[in-house]
Amino acid sequence: MFMPKSDVVIIGSGLAALVAANRLCMEKNVIIFTKSSKYNSNSMLAQGGVAAAISSDDDWSTHFNDTILAGCGHNLESAVKALVQEGPRYMEELIQQGMQFDKDEAGRIKLGQEGAHSIRRILHAGGDATGKALVQFLLKKLCNKVQIIEHELAIDLIVNDGSCVGVQTLDEHSQLTSYYANHVILATGGCGGLYEHSSNDHSIVGDGYAMAYRAGADLIDMEFIQFHPTLLYVNGHCPGLISEAVRGEGATLVTKNGRKIMEGQHPLLDLAPRDVVARVIFEEVKKGESIFLDITMIENFSSHFPTITSLCKRNGISPSDGKIPVVPGAHFMMGGIKVDSYSQSTIPGLFAIGEVACTGVHGANRLASNSLLEGIVFSNLMADFILSQATRPVSQKALRDERPTVQSKNQLPTKEEIKEMMMKSVGIVRSKRELEEVVMVLEPYIQLKPKELHFNKEKICLLNMITTAWLIASSALHREESRGGHYRADFPDVNKVWDHRTITRNALEHAVVN
Ligand code: SIN
Repeated sequence: MFMPKSDVVIIGSGLAALVAANRLCMEKNVIIFTKSSKYNSNSMLAQGGVAAAISSDDDWSTHFNDTILAGCGHNLESAVKALVQEGPRYMEELIQQGMQFDKDEAGRIKLGQEGAHSIRRILHAGGDATGKALVQFLLKKLCNKVQIIEHELAIDLIVNDGSCVGVQTLDEHSQLTSYYANHVILATGGCGGLYEHSSNDHSIVGDGYAMAYRAGADLIDMEFIQFHPTLLYVNGHCPGLISEAVRGEGATLVTKNGRKIMEGQHPLLDLAPRDVVARVIFEEVKKGESIFLDITMIENFSSHFPTITSLCKRNGISPSDGKIPVVPGAHFMMGGIKVDSYSQSTIPGLFAIGEVACTGVHGANRLASNSLLEGIVFSNLMADFILSQATRPVSQKALRDERPTVQSKNQLPTKEEIKEMMMKSVGIVRSKRELEEVVMVLEPYIQLKPKELHFNKEKICLLNMITTAWLIASSALHREESRGGHYRADFPDVNKVWDHRTITRNALEHAVVN
């Protein structure tokens, strides 16, 4: 039986994966797997940039406070400190390696403004194409240094004697392979694709959470999903994101008749934290309003926001008309696989980085442009940790291709049913009754294994969707309060002023689901 072995296996090909591979590949043999193409990741779609306190007017403590305030005090302070203190150093390192960020006429790095940041501190590349520029830069650097295997789905982690020693994959020809490695890194991104309205790449449906759950890893804070206020909305669909940087440059949210909907809602108006803005839009839409971004005040919109301009045009919207139709949609998972400061999960040998991991930095609501920074900082810290470790023995017990001879009779809910249910009952506004119903509908499928689904790729992805949806709904049911990205209509008091000195992540028993 073919049982390939490498030092490091990384599952996923977004920014966090590429940063880790870039640091590890000089000393380690690295294989990257991705279930679709290496260009299908949320990082590729990231329009907002990287938040880092690099300006002389800024400092890490201001970035720290903004992160904690946006996170409603649920953040793990030591992780936030690592993020904001190490961030500028790793950004400088990327720039030294040749990464080009946008500059002003004087040749200084241009810093943008986004919601809930108290100062301009967002680095962009290609205007609104920062994620794509970073991915392309790193892919070029990695060329011929790491093996990137595309269109191969990781279906389960291999755990022997309590340690993760590899991953079982399914290729395009339904061939199963067990890859063994000293270090297995999940970098599979989030789960926006579980929702009808989402900014995420269509392939991002929560595979990493489901695999980690099946393997027995702890997951944490799964109820905290960030709904981005402004997804382009055309004919009932959301073909992409309209970056918060557009509001950063002055755009306002208005009704068809031009009423500014954020007036009287929050002192920061259109740049209030995302959960606040998303809920205001949600309530307006519920009342039958259509909501638009008024961009008439932004000069040279198309050169400032080329990606958004072409997204609008491809979908029949002309930015020169001055109004872009928007709705909120699932954008980012703040929770995930519970990891320590070196991205180690609760299973030895298994690491998690990027959105699939919960380092604790984002708390209950992520501050804009902190996600690419998290990918950069924690992947580097993890890579340095791995490089400092002695190689551990890996027991390669062969997994057999045990396919049942008859097809499973399990009739899983469809993708569309799951997305509709999540949007309606585990979305921007939640309640006990609806959450209980979702948990009850999904629970019967959770114990299924890929083997029982005859290693059918579509069905395994559906099982992953169901498992992750169930994890979110059960965690949301458990948390009887409203905080950040988790809003319970039956516990609506969000008017507390979250103070990180008195309300910490540990002040509440939070949902650790395993
Ligand atoms: C945006 O550009 O609005 C999204 C950036 C982010 O989520 O940080």
